Amino acid sequence: MCHSAVQTRAAGAPAWSPAVRFSPHQTLSLHRIFLAASLAGALIMPTHLVLAADIAATVHPDAWPQGSWPLPPDPALEARVKALLAKMSVEDKVGQMIQADIKSVTPDDVRKYRLGSILAGGNSKPNGQQTATTKQWQQLSDAFYRASMDTSGGRLAIPVLFGIDAVHGHNNLVGSTLFPQNSALGNARDPELIHEIGAATARELRASGINWTFAPTLTVPQDGRWGRAYEGYSENPALVAQYAAAVVEGLEGKLGTPQFLDADHVIATAKHFVGDGGTHDGKDQGDAQVSEAVLRDVHAAGYPPAIKAGVQVVMVSFSSWNGVKMAGNKALITDVLKGRMDFGGIVLGDWNAHGQVPGCTNEDCPVAYNAGLDMLEAPDSWKGLYNNTLAEVKSGVIPMSRVDDAVTRILRVKLRLGMFEAGLPSANPLVLASAQVIGSPAHRALARRAVRESLVLLKNDGVLPIDPRKHVLVTGDGADNISKQNGGWTLTWQGTGLTNADFPGATSIFAGIQAQVKAAGGRAELSIDGSYKSKPDVAIVVFGEDPYAEFQGDLPNLAYRPGNDHDLDLLRRLRGQGVPVVAVFLTGRPLWMNREINASDAFVVAWLPGSEGAGIADVLLRTRDGRIAHDFHGKLAYSWPRTAVQIPLAGGKDNYHPQFPYGFGLTYADHGDTGRLPEEAGIELSSARAGVYFTHGKPAQGFALRLTGANGAAANVTATPAATADGSLRIASLDYKAQEDARRLSWSGNGAAHAALVAPAPLDVERETNGDVLLVTTLRVDAVSPQGTAIGVGCGVGCKAQVPIGRQLDDLPRGQWLRVGISLKCFRDAGADMSKLDQPFEWIGSPGESIAITDVSLGTVADKTLVCPVARKD
Ligand code: BGC
Ligand code: BGC
Repeated sequence: MCHSAVQTRAAGAPAWSPAVRFSPHQTLSLHRIFLAASLAGALIMPTHLVLAADIAATVHPDAWPQGSWPLPPDPALEARVKALLAKMSVEDKVGQMIQADIKSVTPDDVRKYRLGSILAGGNSKPNGQQTATTKQWQQLSDAFYRASMDTSGGRLAIPVLFGIDAVHGHNNLVGSTLFPQNSALGNARDPELIHEIGAATARELRASGINWTFAPTLTVPQDGRWGRAYEGYSENPALVAQYAAAVVEGLEGKLGTPQFLDADHVIATAKHFVGDGGTHDGKDQGDAQVSEAVLRDVHAAGYPPAIKAGVQVVMVSFSSWNGVKMAGNKALITDVLKGRMDFGGIVLGDWNAHGQVPGCTNEDCPVAYNAGLDMLEAPDSWKGLYNNTLAEVKSGVIPMSRVDDAVTRILRVKLRLGMFEAGLPSANPLVLASAQVIGSPAHRALARRAVRESLVLLKNDGVLPIDPRKHVLVTGDGADNISKQNGGWTLTWQGTGLTNADFPGATSIFAGIQAQVKAAGGRAELSIDGSYKSKPDVAIVVFGEDPYAEFQGDLPNLAYRPGNDHDLDLLRRLRGQGVPVVAVFLTGRPLWMNREINASDAFVVAWLPGSEGAGIADVLLRTRDGRIAHDFHGKLAYSWPRTAVQIPLAGGKDNYHPQFPYGFGLTYADHGDTGRLPEEAGIELSSARAGVYFTHGKPAQGFALRLTGANGAAANVTATPAATADGSLRIASLDYKAQEDARRLSWSGNGAAHAALVAPAPLDVERETNGDVLLVTTLRVDAVSPQGTAIGVGCGVGCKAQVPIGRQLDDLPRGQWLRVGISLKCFRDAGADMSKLDQPFEWIGSPGESIAITDVSLGTVADKTLVCPVARKD
């Protein structure tokens, strides 16, 4: 393996030797064996099936890199652990092994159940308040700490750990410094920068009373369709490995120095062990169907260096490896991670991930503990898990030796962190100085530098750098949109439902450009839609992906908003008007961009740069006196696709033909014409138009969900819960198959109210209508209104069709999820022009009605197909 080549690699070659790559051949044959064996097993002897799965997922610990726990033996610490353990009851021990979420646990619960740790998930804030202040976080942390140290009734005082996802800065805290997401940082090729970001993040965490982050994500994403690709630094295992040590040292302090785990640092979590970035088809929480060698050499590459740097926690992945859920994989957890790699910290389960192990539920999973997990994240399920685990320890299903190993590891971490001596979280000097630490000028300057370093220039026909004394038009829906700059895991789990007002101290890309242009005597003009009064000298068009997290970001291919060419049209329009165009693309991952690149004079990938948008102006603009202060520095950490279906990109030397290879990135010294790129996407883009409108409880990319109250007032839903101004229609989140992947709509008051999906551009579904395609929605009927229900579509001003479905709805079972379809023909027959749908779905309900809905799409299968109730008029 050419691990050393990270920084010097020339453009044009794959990033690492194909030998470590997942060869398509290998998969195929593995699959064939598996398939053949499964078939044979199914037909002849069921045991073959099990055997085949075992072979595919067999682990050879000796073939894994041998590690040794880097912390020197500490007899004094061990003596304290032993003494404590001897005093602990079974109840005390089990409590340590469970982590509950602040949404579902109180300090009183911690006092009573002796829980060892708590977490704040992406949507969990003090008092349930999204805008919770630093003070409120500090107070919450103190309250939990006090509860854990309460010795009344003979209880043992064991300080509670508090973990949170600080994955791009302390991203749950209003006013914090938000660093670029990891897929941006990979391009910087700067471990020192990563180290400094880790240290700054640790300080902001400590300043809010928190001592543990669920970071770094050491995933090595191999498929850009994965909704978590942006959480990974690179597709290249060597780069991830190099960053792993730097970020752990930044967060925890350097091992062997007094700074290690001191009051300025936090404990870090390497996640998600292992194979999260290798799942089949890039499906989140899916199955990594790769050989053991690929699992080790590609996906596990970050773990040995993280362990060597002293990482205190490893989080186990939601995903499976060759059909075996990681949370139940004893061979990989106990034999490889704890054994061969000699990891001596805490092995933590992911958010109710244990519930996905066969035979387990969220409340009950001895298999996970027995596989070697020391602590399970049981956000809302902790009480049930506690009771069941306690019973299982008492009955011996979970051996006491396993419990003692787990609790020993947990106590060691708490002691190393000095928690028993530190006192209240708010006693940390950084808490006292929190106003000077959180979002400090120094941290923001570091983030701004990180933005500059991670920009990647894919094309420059000479329009860059821009003279700041000119008239600069800044346009596109990302121009002045700090939420969009940040992506998911930003103030909310999905990073959605936010406005610029939610980011005090942050700078939008436009604001950054404006400040520098103004200072130089030029004129910067913001115009989201690209219109202008006087012709600008140059336009900077900022556009890209809207925020998402986890499975909500999974894509079927690498097309950017298929069926919605709004941004492309904007680029083309400005260029057509003779305005030179600089495209700035906000994205978590490489997407197929050839048409947009052709339509631009310069193309900059800004990734998800975070709160310091001024970093973009630093590189795009000359100084007032005409100098170039900052050149482009970023080199692609992910290969850039030539088509929307080039997946995975790096398949080995012979078939490695990306549009822009790993390591590509122009500077101002590079000259020459990029030329016209091929514009064949590899799929029919317009057919995707007829695809998905609403998915996982959210409008599909570019779509909006609009509620219209009985009084006629309409507003788009940006966050849930929400309601129409007159209260006639309410919307709330609920769980269908995963957290918050559905919405409940309930009607009250008087008169009908509507929920409609608004398309970004009119959709032509004429062909589908002729082809007898259905409009399908997965829904659950909870209550039906006697006043009736209708499904409708809109087709522009004055054009619509509504089809009453009340009677048929009434016939459906209550409280049961069903895929309900209605032929598109029904709407055409009721008068709609199916060639220009701007609202491909509208639900008109009446008071008393309540439904839950998770998706709306075009399809051909349904559990129940409604008949067109309106007879066709000639
Ligand atoms: C994610 C983890 C995260 C955890 C806690 C899970 O859904 O997979 O990355 O650390 O939630 O928020
Ligand atoms: C996330 C949490 C989030 C939750 C929402 C989980 O998968 O990791 O951080 O708050 O879902 O229900």
